[in-house]
Amino acid sequence: MKTIIEPFRIKTVEPIHFNTKKQRLTLLENAFNNPFLLKSDDVMIDLLTDSGTSAMSSDQWAAIMHGDESYAGSPSFYKFEKAVQKITNLPIVIPTHQGRAAEKIIFTILGGKGKYFLANTLFDTTRANIEFSGAIGMDILCEEGKIPTTPAPFKGNMDVVRLEHEINSIGASNIPMVIMTITNNSGGGQPVSLKNIRETSIICKKYGIAFFIDACRFAENCFFIKLREEGYQKKSIIEIANEIFSLADGCTMSAKKDAFANIGGFLALRNDELAMQCRNLLIVTEGFPTYGGLAGRDLEAIAVGLEEIVDENYLNYRLRSIEYLTEKLQQAGVPVMLPAGGHAVYLDAKKFLPHIPVEFYPGQALVCALYVEGGIRSCEIGSLMFGKYDADAKLIPASLELVRLAIPRRVYTQSHIDYVAEVVIEVFQSRDQIKGMEILEQSEILRHFTAKLKFVG
Ligand code: F0G
Repeated sequence: MKTIIEPFRIKTVEPIHFNTKKQRLTLLENAFNNPFLLKSDDVMIDLLTDSGTSAMSSDQWAAIMHGDESYAGSPSFYKFEKAVQKITNLPIVIPTHQGRAAEKIIFTILGGKGKYFLANTLFDTTRANIEFSGAIGMDILCEEGKIPTTPAPFKGNMDVVRLEHEINSIGASNIPMVIMTITNNSGGGQPVSLKNIRETSIICKKYGIAFFIDACRFAENCFFIKLREEGYQKKSIIEIANEIFSLADGCTMSAKKDAFANIGGFLALRNDELAMQCRNLLIVTEGFPTYGGLAGRDLEAIAVGLEEIVDENYLNYRLRSIEYLTEKLQQAGVPVMLPAGGHAVYLDAKKFLPHIPVEFYPGQALVCALYVEGGIRSCEIGSLMFGKYDADAKLIPASLELVRLAIPRRVYTQSHIDYVAEVVIEVFQSRDQIKGMEILEQSEILRHFTAKLKFVG
């Protein structure tokens, strides 16, 4: 059959609250033109993030009833630990309340002034946690990953030649860790090949640098490997995952993505000494090492989610549904990141709105237009998120100005996606009328979450 159907039936539904374009104009104005500040009831299709927004399965809800809330040594922890080990084979598993809590712990221990963390691309919270420790985060993405509309199979790859060059110029002793984000969220949800992971791992070993995986969307990455990398067509997702993690010294993971959970995360490691330091910090900030900021029921939901995520029928549907929206937009001439990523469709705001210079945040302007036109909430991944200022307070823009339409897992059906395509195309056809934006108020770190903006011109 040509049609790839949603591999689930729907048992519980949530209402969508409809509103009009006129109402949305006022709602957006009241939210200072930053959709992060909207009430979610005022959003019709929420594509802000795929994080924590998954629909849990009946098996996950059932597992929640088995949650054992013992402070120490809960059986729910051991189920969780086993599920993580099945995928990673990493012996030490430390639960955290979400991905960034794992990041905070590891970068507090390994970071600090004068240290550098090199990655294909760091996600915003990862970079923020590195910088908060006083260290510097550096992205070393392959060249093809930087050109949104030119397709290539593994646009999330690390530029391994530059990696080695940077290690030599910074000095290996100043680099506690190299990180591979799979899939590369900030670079379009693009996958990394096993070949590239292996090459990176070999370089790290050569220089005695720890190699970590940011594993939030590992299953989507594994399925891309199965589809696109020679020699992996007959391997299972677990086998591919095992191979990836065998090349790493550890990983951080947000279970809010590829574990279908609404909350949770973990740190998994090989090194006992490092694990002891992590657990000591965990006890201060998250909780005892067998719950790490989570309830026993959350650990149960994650354990089941990690089993469900490696189902190839699901992954096939998942990647196809992202590709479906990408194709519809591409056919209408909308500049989208190509090929389709694993969890989101990324619009190229620089090409979409060529009349708005980067200093006037074309990505955020597009985010606002999508909300007003169709009640769709999306997220800017560009200069509002990653922009910095030079000594003269002039904006140093991000390398890409993207708008991300992140698709929550198992939540929206094909007709929702058709509606999204219709709205984006409608906005594209009247793009000349969209104005640029200025920041009125912002915080020093992660400013995109709370910034207040106004339209200019
Ligand atoms: N790493 C990556 C690659 C992520 O995408 C995220 C979260 C994190 C780490 C942090 O995990 O949210 O559990 O603390 N990304 C979400 C997003 C927020 O919308 O892409 P967390």
